[in-house]
Amino acid sequence: MRITKSEGGVGAHVDEVDLSKLTADQTAELDAAWAEHGVLFYRDQHLTPEQHIEFATRFAEVDINKFFKKVEGHPQIAQVAKEADQEVNIGGAWHTDHSYDLAPARGSILLAREVPPIGGDTLFANVADAYEELSEGMKTTLESLRAIHTNADVFGANTEYAKKTGDRIANPEGVSTVTHPVVVAHPQSGRKLLYLNLAFTRYFEGWTREESKPLLEFLYGHVSQERFTTRFAWQPGSIAMWDNRSTWHWALNDYQGHRRLMHRVTIKGEELTAA
Ligand code: SIN
Repeated sequence: MRITKSEGGVGAHVDEVDLSKLTADQTAELDAAWAEHGVLFYRDQHLTPEQHIEFATRFAEVDINKFFKKVEGHPQIAQVAKEADQEVNIGGAWHTDHSYDLAPARGSILLAREVPPIGGDTLFANVADAYEELSEGMKTTLESLRAIHTNADVFGANTEYAKKTGDRIANPEGVSTVTHPVVVAHPQSGRKLLYLNLAFTRYFEGWTREESKPLLEFLYGHVSQERFTTRFAWQPGSIAMWDNRSTWHWALNDYQGHRRLMHRVTIKGEELTAA
């Protein structure tokens, strides 16, 4: 197995491995590389749904997504789909999965089943390096803050997003709102991370939305600078396995008129603690 750091701002490529036949030593090596690099990219892993779930559960129990349509016969696998005649994709803005849960998902393992002839790449950003580069004054301010995360205006009943995604999402009763520290310690590496994201973070606890907006916008702009990001182009059988605490991701929606179908297994994480 060969692990090579990506040329971008986050992630590593893993080659010469068959994820359906991993040894315990290889699993441990991948686990350590995952914590170090934030996202691991693989090619030509044509796993069956059962093998996909088996691979994910080597790292933690499955954390079933409450809103996405499931793969038939496999409730552990969420379908991230966009049909040729649909306009809105799933995950088309910087976000991290399940930050609206008290114990957000540790990671997501996305397997490409069908990809458009061109486009449909995913961007990833490194929120650990981005945090480190902030000034000491800004870090001190952020370390004293908590932020409100919610999915009510995304997955709630009759939201614009729900209307546009149609039957690809369901269960508006499952919405939740929680608070997390803004700077958290990564549970495996101990590194300090900026735990905020554009899709689900709304405001700082004790601040108004209006007061929060300029600082949130500054931080989103800071993290999404090119030097912190990597772009991954998919082929059928490609896998990206990302850490939802140390990275953000954004599924680009630049392939109108073509189908894109991905299978995602999300695994459980723990409640995050202030760094
Ligand atoms: C997601 O946000 O989980 C999906 C990412 C993608 O489809 O590239």
